[in-house]
Amino acid sequence: MDITIIVAIAENNAIGKNNDLLWHISGDLKRFKEITTGHTIIMGRKTYLSLPKRPLPNRRSIVISDIANECIPNVDVVDSIENVLKIADKEKENFIIGGGMVYKQFLPLANKMYLTVVHKEYDADVYFPEINFEDWEIQNKEEHLDHEPPFSYMTLIKK
Ligand SMILES: NC(=O)c1ccc[n+]([C@@H]2O[C@H](COP(=O)([O-])OP(=O)(O)OC[C@H]3O[C@@H](n4cnc5c(N)ncnc54)[C@H](OP(=O)(O)O)[C@@H]3O)[C@@H](O)[C@H]2O)c1
Repeated sequence: MDITIIVAIAENNAIGKNNDLLWHISGDLKRFKEITTGHTIIMGRKTYLSLPKRPLPNRRSIVISDIANECIPNVDVVDSIENVLKIADKEKENFIIGGGMVYKQFLPLANKMYLTVVHKEYDADVYFPEINFEDWEIQNKEEHLDHEPPFSYMTLIKK
């Protein structure tokens, strides 16, 4: 099964604060939409609630939550990583879209990552787990250093 993480991460691994993102990079949001449309997206309950439009259109959403009997229209709600894997797409890439708690549990299971690295440090309350770059091969890198904040897109494949 293909598990792909997609995340925007600061130089200090910061990814969120007050259940919101730390920056607004419209090109990154557009890229996120292009990459994930037509696929299954998997997220924690807090990330689901942080979305401006939910569920995100033209994607199948799986939301992880311990809250019993959670029922969200047009969303599959599951209560464990094991149950995510049972109902995930066996044919196409499944995208892990956050947040910190969910990235931490899926990082060891992922075989690909789309990183947007924002070249600044941010004060945050949620961080991405430490990436061991020795485990990953950089397949692609695209720099946008004239943007404020400057950022780079990176595609990593598990070695
Ligand atoms: N920079 C980025 O690319 C990016 C992407 C996504 C999100 N974010 C940011 O990340 C932050 C949210 O991250 P977060 O870590 O606070 O929350 P989260 O990972 O989105 O959601 C956490 C919730 O997911 C459920 N959950 C997670 N693992 C579970 C498991 N194994 N079994 C059952 N339930 C499980 C629990 O829900 P219950 O409490 O219902 O049990 C838990 O409270 C926000 O600031 C958001 O903006 C950033």
